[in-house]
Amino acid sequence: MKEKKKLLFVCLGNICRSPLAEALMRQIQTEYNLNFELDSAGTSGYHNGELPDARTRANALKNGLDISYLRARQFKPNDLEAFDQIFTMDRNNLLDIQKAHLKSEHLHKLSLLPHPEKQGEYIEIPDPYFGTETDFENVFQLLNKSITALCRELSKIN
Ligand code: 4NP
Repeated sequence: MKEKKKLLFVCLGNICRSPLAEALMRQIQTEYNLNFELDSAGTSGYHNGELPDARTRANALKNGLDISYLRARQFKPNDLEAFDQIFTMDRNNLLDIQKAHLKSEHLHKLSLLPHPEKQGEYIEIPDPYFGTETDFENVFQLLNKSITALCRELSKIN
């Protein structure tokens, strides 16, 4: 049997954007008959072991998604070996991984998330941590659209 491919979503704290990306991917990939192994991590370890941020959880629930089963963990160098593709939420996350850990053989695994409409383009998910409820809702809507585009792309090649 073919081994399951593994995808990792990365942000700074692993309590706002990347756990939501992971949970949305779990939901949306089933609609596309995809079955990736999924995880998320933060470039920092500030929130290790914590639940997703209460504002992210509340916003996700409002949108019909319970993400309270997730716990934060820090990105580790072995993730570059263990995962097939790694999606960072913004350019800072991507640069932090490159600076700290990257070998050239892993470069192809790292990218931002796809643009919802423009194939071959990428988007950043803005950090909502110091923002308002509207910023959290914006993150949800952006991630929902981008992860849908990702599933559409992946369903063509897997
Ligand atoms: P995240 O958001 O990277 O989307 O999980 C943040 C969470 C925590 C902090 C910053 C951003 N912080 O500064 O603690």
